[in-house]
Amino acid sequence: MDSLLTNAIAAARLARGIHLYYQEKGFSIDTKSGPTDLVTQADKETEDAIKNFLLAHYPDHSFLGEESGQEREAEYRWIVDPIDGTVNFAHGFPFFAVSIALEVRGELELGVVLDSSRDELFWGRRGQGAFLNGRPIEVSQTNKLIGSLLATGFPYDINKDRENLTYFERVLKKGLTVRRPGAAALDLSYVAAGRLDGFWEVKLKPWDAAGALVVLQEAGAVITGLDGEEYQLGNRYIVASNGLIHEELLAAIHGRR
Ligand code: IPD
Ligand code: CA
Ligand code: CA
Repeated sequence: MDSLLTNAIAAARLARGIHLYYQEKGFSIDTKSGPTDLVTQADKETEDAIKNFLLAHYPDHSFLGEESGQEREAEYRWIVDPIDGTVNFAHGFPFFAVSIALEVRGELELGVVLDSSRDELFWGRRGQGAFLNGRPIEVSQTNKLIGSLLATGFPYDINKDRENLTYFERVLKKGLTVRRPGAAALDLSYVAAGRLDGFWEVKLKPWDAAGALVVLQEAGAVITGLDGEEYQLGNRYIVASNGLIHEELLAAIHGRR
């Protein structure tokens, strides 16, 4: 394992320690864009800790974090969601993670997603595979949409931007099984590990998706937009699947038979 990956994993473990500490001790909660868009003391402290750790090791790198934004450009950029699944975290619903990705000259090179409650570490390194707690992972072999397990998520401003409610309804009406676990980084990692066959969401932010993308790619997933076009970080639409059900999933989202 190279030192970039080792340090990304060390930063994720540091973050998990802070998550577990605040789950035990309690924390203050503020709102951001609306009453359900939460940020806790733990989000901010976790992000500060990751940022300080990574920039102490790599002072020339830049850092994009959900809570602190980005200060400058550099060839190497860390993209971090200190707690993905903050609403779950705030309620003690044990499905939240830290997500850390490294982009080099615009290309994602590695990603680490650590589920704090289960201590499950997903990581992917370009050309080196995808792993869960040290074991190689790959996407599922499910080749029909009927009988597959899917997941999605919704943005905080769902009342202003209801597009995914349409897709959710279409997919449910087809009799398909859809979960809404509440932490996109883990949902995507679960596609990589074959626990979910497919996932889609509208309006994910770069830090929601970045940590899981190399994990997905190295596990054999297909990741596109709604029309099968290549997914780029920050795009409005993401559809990730095992590949075998991808066309059927896109058709279901579009309401095609
Ligand atoms: C959210 C989660 C959720 C997704 C939202 C994200 P946060 O991130 O990933 O699953 O549906 O779109 O904003 O706010 O918990 O970091
Ligand atoms: Ca997030
Ligand atoms: Ca977050």
